[in-house]
Amino acid sequence: MNKNIAAIILAAGKSVRMKSDIPKVLHPVCGRPCLSYVLDLVYALKLKNIIAVLGHKHQSVKKLLKSSIKVVLQKRLLGTADAVKEAMPLLKNFKGTVLVLYADNPLLKKETIKKLLEHHIKNNLDATLLTTKIDKPSGYGRVLRDKYASICGIVEEKDADDFQKDIQEINTGIICFNKDRLLDSLKHVRPNNRKKEYYLTDTIGVLYKKGFLLDSVKINDINEALGINSRQDLAKANSIMQKRINEELMQKGITIVDPDSTFISYGAKIGRDSTIYPFTVIESNVRIGKSCFIGPFVHLREGTVLGDDIMAGNFLEVVRSKISSGTLLKHVGYIGDSQIGRMVNIGAGTVIANFDGKKKNITVIKDRAFIGCDTVLVAPVKIGKCARTGAGTVVTKNKNVPDGTTVVGVPARPLKK
Ligand code: UD1
Ligand code: MG
Repeated sequence: MNKNIAAIILAAGKSVRMKSDIPKVLHPVCGRPCLSYVLDLVYALKLKNIIAVLGHKHQSVKKLLKSSIKVVLQKRLLGTADAVKEAMPLLKNFKGTVLVLYADNPLLKKETIKKLLEHHIKNNLDATLLTTKIDKPSGYGRVLRDKYASICGIVEEKDADDFQKDIQEINTGIICFNKDRLLDSLKHVRPNNRKKEYYLTDTIGVLYKKGFLLDSVKINDINEALGINSRQDLAKANSIMQKRINEELMQKGITIVDPDSTFISYGAKIGRDSTIYPFTVIESNVRIGKSCFIGPFVHLREGTVLGDDIMAGNFLEVVRSKISSGTLLKHVGYIGDSQIGRMVNIGAGTVIANFDGKKKNITVIKDRAFIGCDTVLVAPVKIGKCARTGAGTVVTKNKNVPDGTTVVGVPARPLKK
């Protein structure tokens, strides 16, 4: 437990630039809310004091937080300095370092935050900025330096003159403060800017004027700095995060034939020696066993659990279904709310009609069953062990097929030998 460090996460903002009814920090990046990635960073630091500042649609944002996180509501969204100010009463008896994080910053890595904190604490600094250099830094606050190259302030893009706009060193938004210096400097921040907001970044100029010690830690990977303010930023963050997820899976022994056209959400689990072909979408809580072949053009949705040695796809959608080892679903189909046993063959074009217009119903297919091409199974229905359906069969609701029986036709009837 790190007692001398507290974190404040700012997550109160609206989605003005996103043009969205959903709070910005809830927009998913690879299937997971943007804010959750930032929360991971502070959880990893094992801090006792974590405060989240919420505002816009706070009830839905709060659901993502562990109960150990303290929550304050920013009544009016007057800017980042105002948001931090709201959190300060909760740190009344705290002494030490306050780390401020913005919840729209999902690509930051925990090693980077650790490096920032270490530098700040080791050098006994009053404020330390996390900065980076970007060729075209539009949208970000620019770091101002004096003639000795010491940090003397931050100017926001909207308030910057042409000279300042050419500065390539930007503020990532992540800043460590000595708590007392932060508290004192916040009192001096005024909304004298184009947006008429209280900018947290103005505390840096205040501290400089008072002669306090300021420094920065630079990150080399500019991707980590990406703050999501627009749909374009969101798409960029998705693609960078997707690269990271795919890299990690490949590292673990999974073949991804074309990482650029394979979309695997955060949290999906895939076993060793499985191969994922292009244009496959795998959602968050999907589990795939070892030595499977998935895709191309497969969509594995929530609640899909696949055993080992499964071949799934081309052109297949699976949702809320458990499929046991050795089963083949090689071409075209829809499997929903199903439990499928081992060594089953699901023929091309099989459709599980799981929705009757009111509710979703369950289908059970037992081990070694053989489902012929173009079969429709109208749920709820059970197909017995080693049972077979002929091509084009429609097995209607509750007309369970006993073990070892072959059915054909529409509606399905036992095949006379
Ligand atoms: C901010 C920084 C900018 C930096 C950039 C990095 C300021 C003034 N500017 O700009 O220097 O380069 O981040 O991404 O801080 N929020 C609140 N309450 C508010 C306003 C915002 O909680 O009243 C939260 C938002 O939910 C968001 C974070 O603070 O998570 C940052 O706000 P945002 O509007 O995204 O600031 P930027 O314009 O990106
Ligand atoms: Mg932002």
